[in-house]
Amino acid sequence: MSETFEQMWSSVAPVGRSGSSGGYFRQPFTSAERECHEWFVEQCTARGLTIERDGNGNTVGWWEPVVDRNLPRVLTGSHLDSVLDGGAYDGPLGIVSAFAAMDLLVERGFEPGRTIGIAAFAEEEGSRFSIACLGSRLAVGAVSPERAVALTDRDGVRLDDAMAAAGLEPQLGRSAWLDSVGCYLELHVEQGRDLVHREIPVGLASMIWPHGRYRFDFTGAANHAGATSMADRRDPMLTYAMTALAANKQARLVAGDAGRATFGRLEVSPNATNAVPDRVTGWLDARCESDEALVELVAAIEKQGRERAERDGTTLAVTAESVSPAVHFDLELSARLAHLGGTDRPAIATAAGHDAGVLATSGIPSAMLFVRNPTGVSHSPAEYADLADCLAGVEVLADALAELAR
Ligand code: GLV
Ligand code: MN
Ligand code: MN
Repeated sequence: MSETFEQMWSSVAPVGRSGSSGGYFRQPFTSAERECHEWFVEQCTARGLTIERDGNGNTVGWWEPVVDRNLPRVLTGSHLDSVLDGGAYDGPLGIVSAFAAMDLLVERGFEPGRTIGIAAFAEEEGSRFSIACLGSRLAVGAVSPERAVALTDRDGVRLDDAMAAAGLEPQLGRSAWLDSVGCYLELHVEQGRDLVHREIPVGLASMIWPHGRYRFDFTGAANHAGATSMADRRDPMLTYAMTALAANKQARLVAGDAGRATFGRLEVSPNATNAVPDRVTGWLDARCESDEALVELVAAIEKQGRERAERDGTTLAVTAESVSPAVHFDLELSARLAHLGGTDRPAIATAAGHDAGVLATSGIPSAMLFVRNPTGVSHSPAEYADLADCLAGVEVLADALAELAR
């Protein structure tokens, strides 16, 4: 007898949770995240799923009690890593719900006509190696192994070394198992309050806003904080500060509340109270409703940063680390899921990135289900979903998998 949704949830909930904030630190290829992956493998084993691991850190469990294993497969799943001090639901909800939905199908006596897989993608948040959805991007070939192998984390550890240290055998590059996938459906906690306003527990995604991560390197000259007159400084912190304000202003200027710009990560060298810094690196996360608007927004922020650098006697170099174009989810697939169970489900645009977006961009018809989040908060310990809504999500996911794998 498999564990219920509640039992599964309570077995993963403590993994990587901080005692002080209640937030999660499930950094890719660290012990907490790997413990989650081991839990994932145990759940697959308990259900008799065929387990497949690729060389990118992704794991899939296949349910294949089917006559014809050559038919395109139906894939669901999500990710188990978190941002630094993240919430419990972003990622794990999709995976726990997938197992629970599979159990529901078994309970209903459903006989799938196609193999159904549950995937746990690695480094979805890009919190360790800077590229969003790194596991799925490698799997579809959207990031080359040469580029990935050169990535390092904040401590200078290379991706392949981090994987090897976690007991994996890195073999970066396209994952053959994706060739058998005919469609992907990811369930996710909503990162906003659209469903709260509509008073609906489960919705569909219509699109993902284009978004990107850009490293802004500001360089000046280190000097004594007391002995250097204000007129003689080349202080990159000032250039950064003005650029952060410009980013906020430029994003607000995008019509229709359709722009976002955030500097959420900073490194300062030498990072001393009594020294003017010589270098400040800030990471800009920018998102817009259209690809053109995103290009314009980042260009406007960079322009203002450069103008300020000239005044400060500093320099600015901008590097795009990971850019994801707009994703419009598969209309035919979404239409099949919009009225399942006799309920009309709204399709919501989201400004959050997902592996489903990467798979969709690679040509795999994809769709997403969102489960209501009363706080609307995400990437924070305040992220939440009621148990009743989670169970409603499981029902819809089971109906959807049944529809797709008939
Ligand atoms: C991931 O959740 C992102 O939107 O960055
Ligand atoms: Mn997520
Ligand atoms: Mn996330």
